[in-house]
Amino acid sequence: MKANVLFSPNNVDELYFTNKTTVVIDVLRATSVIIQALNNGAKEVIPVGSIDFAMKISVNAHGGQTLLCGERNTIMIDGFDLGNSPQDFVKEKVFGKSIVLFTTNGSKAIVKAKYSENLFISSFNNLSAMAEHLVSLDKDVEIIAAGSNGIFCMEDAICAGALIHTMKSLNENIEISDASKASLVLNDQFGTDVIAMLTESEHGKRLIENNFEEDLSFCAKIDNMPIIPFYKGGEIKLFNKDKK
Ligand code: MLT
Repeated sequence: MKANVLFSPNNVDELYFTNKTTVVIDVLRATSVIIQALNNGAKEVIPVGSIDFAMKISVNAHGGQTLLCGERNTIMIDGFDLGNSPQDFVKEKVFGKSIVLFTTNGSKAIVKAKYSENLFISSFNNLSAMAEHLVSLDKDVEIIAAGSNGIFCMEDAICAGALIHTMKSLNENIEISDASKASLVLNDQFGTDVIAMLTESEHGKRLIENNFEEDLSFCAKIDNMPIIPFYKGGEIKLFNKDKK
């Protein structure tokens, strides 16, 4: 089993993911939001690559039980039901709902990896559950650190490093690529205080400027939602080991 990290989904094309096992990480905030929504009982999350497509499917789909969610420049899009703050995705709002999600980087990274054989969603919130599941699958894994418009983001690379670190603690024979080694070093150096690391990150600073400071503490929580979101046929649902 080998683990690789892509520091941006823009470095490869869609077909790169064919037959692969892939994990998408966008700590601030798309994948933390997806985990929160499913943990609070959302029926599914439908990631989309454009606002137009989000609008189209939310009109037609899922019998009025759909919430149109997402952000542009971190702020909720006009006419949408919710933005991209994990704190919005509480049980009272999302239970039983289909969430259509457009975000600047995270939802697009997931859509890009749609040809993967297995496609999972991770963040600090489900780190150990994700690591255990990947080790039990025993397949080579591509970890996409979603980054920001093609540019490296510290928090996604460090979360990828933390995931690999946890996987290696379960199976020390996992082979690691050069990019994985770099993620491990970053995690050793900056991953011990996740909230400080997020606060110092470029995207963290942008969120603080836009009054989303509380989101950082939320996204920094480790293993508080031990669930495995799994993408299949355009929808992200909770992984069910008995019925893949
Ligand atoms: C993204 O996908 O770029 C992020 O989730 C942006 C955000 O913080 O809302």
